[in-house]
Amino acid sequence: MARAFPAGFLWGSSTAAHQIEGGNWNSDWWEWEHKPGTPCVEPSGDACDFLHLYDADIAMLAGMGHNAFRFSIEWARVEPEEGEFSNAALNYYARVIDACERHGVAPVVTLHHFTGPRWFAHRGGWERDDSPQLFARYVARVMRSLGERLPWVGTLNEPNIVALAGWLSPNFPPGKQDPALRHRVNANLVAAHLAAVEEIKAGPGKAKVGLCLSMTAYEAVDGGEERLEHIRQPMHDVYLEAVRGDASDWIGVQTYTRALVGPEGVRRPPPGAELTQMGYEFYPQALGATVREAHAKTGKPVLVTENGIGTEDDSRRIAYIDQALAALHAAIADGVPCLGYLHWSLLDNFEWNSGYRPKFGLVAVDRETFARTPKPSAAHYSAIIRRNGLP
Ligand code: BGC
Repeated sequence: MARAFPAGFLWGSSTAAHQIEGGNWNSDWWEWEHKPGTPCVEPSGDACDFLHLYDADIAMLAGMGHNAFRFSIEWARVEPEEGEFSNAALNYYARVIDACERHGVAPVVTLHHFTGPRWFAHRGGWERDDSPQLFARYVARVMRSLGERLPWVGTLNEPNIVALAGWLSPNFPPGKQDPALRHRVNANLVAAHLAAVEEIKAGPGKAKVGLCLSMTAYEAVDGGEERLEHIRQPMHDVYLEAVRGDASDWIGVQTYTRALVGPEGVRRPPPGAELTQMGYEFYPQALGATVREAHAKTGKPVLVTENGIGTEDDSRRIAYIDQALAALHAAIADGVPCLGYLHWSLLDNFEWNSGYRPKFGLVAVDRETFARTPKPSAAHYSAIIRRNGLP
C-alpha cells in the first residue's frame, strides 16, 4: 500500500444539530434567521429532518464504511429554559447513540455547534462572565445522562468563529461589531472550554475530549508577516495556547482553505484561482499546514473534525478529498499524530447565512421529500476508507 493511514484511524463525516435536525425553534439562530435585516438568505426550517431520519442516516453512513460519525447535541433542546432540563431531549440523543452502536460507528459528539438556547442569548450570551459556568452546568447534565457512552467529545465548535462572526463581522447572532467585546467573548469561550473539560474528565465515562477549532492556512505575502501574527492571535493562538496547558486529549482541526495576508490584511484569492461556492480558494493542501500548526502549538494529537468543499460539481469534491488526504498523509509521515478524518459533511445541509445553496454533502437531500441520494464522491471516499489509504 503506497500511502496507508495509521491502524485504528477514525474515518467518517461531520454534521451539526441545527444544520440537519430541523425545527430548532428554541435556539438563538432560529430567531436570527427570522429577524429582519440579518444576512440570512432563508430560514433553516425542517433542515434535513435528521430529527426523525437519524436511524436510516446512520445505517447509510455505516454502509459507506464510516467508522465514526460527528454530530452535535443541541443545548436549546436539552435546557429549553434556564435550569430546566429535558429528559426527552437527552433520551433522543441516547437513541442516536444507540443507532451508532448498533451500526458499529463511534459517536463523536460536539456539545456546542454555534447554536444555544434563546434564554442564554437574551441574557447576554457569551458576553456575560458567568456564561462559562452556565455552559458547564449543561455539560455536566449531558455527561450525567450520556457520559458512559461517549468515546469522543468536542466541547465547542469553532469558538473563534462564534466570537468573530457574532461580535465583529457581523454575520452570526447577536450581530454586533465591537472589537473589545469580541476579545471578551474569546476569553469567555476559552473559560467555557476549560470548564467543560473538567466536567467531562470528572465523568461518568472516559471520553477523550477536545476543542474543534476553525483553522485557516495563513500565508504572508509582500511583507505581511506582522499582520499575519496579529490576525492569527485571536483566531488560532488564544485557543491553541489554552489547549496546550489543559487536560484535553486532542485538538480538532477544521480547515477549508488558505488565506494570503499582506501588510493591509487578508487578500482576495489570487486572480484566476478556482473558487468554491463559499468564495474560498480551492486549496485542499491547506489541511497539511493547519494540522502541523495545531500539533506544534498544542503538543496534542490532531483529529480532523471538519474538512470539505461547497460545490455543485461533485468531481471537484473528489479532487478536494484526494488532495486534502494526500497533504494529511504527508503530515502524518512527518510525525504529526493524527487520530482521524471526518469529512464535512455527510448531507447537503443548512449552511447558516447562505441557506441551502452551498452543497457540502457526500449525499444530496431532496428539499421536499428529504430523500437521500449518495453522490459519486461518497463512493470514492468509501473506497479510500476500505483500503485505509490512498492509492
Ligand atoms: C462550521 C460548519 C459549516 C462549515 C462549512 C464550519 O465553519 O463548523 O457548521 O457548515 O464550516 O462552512
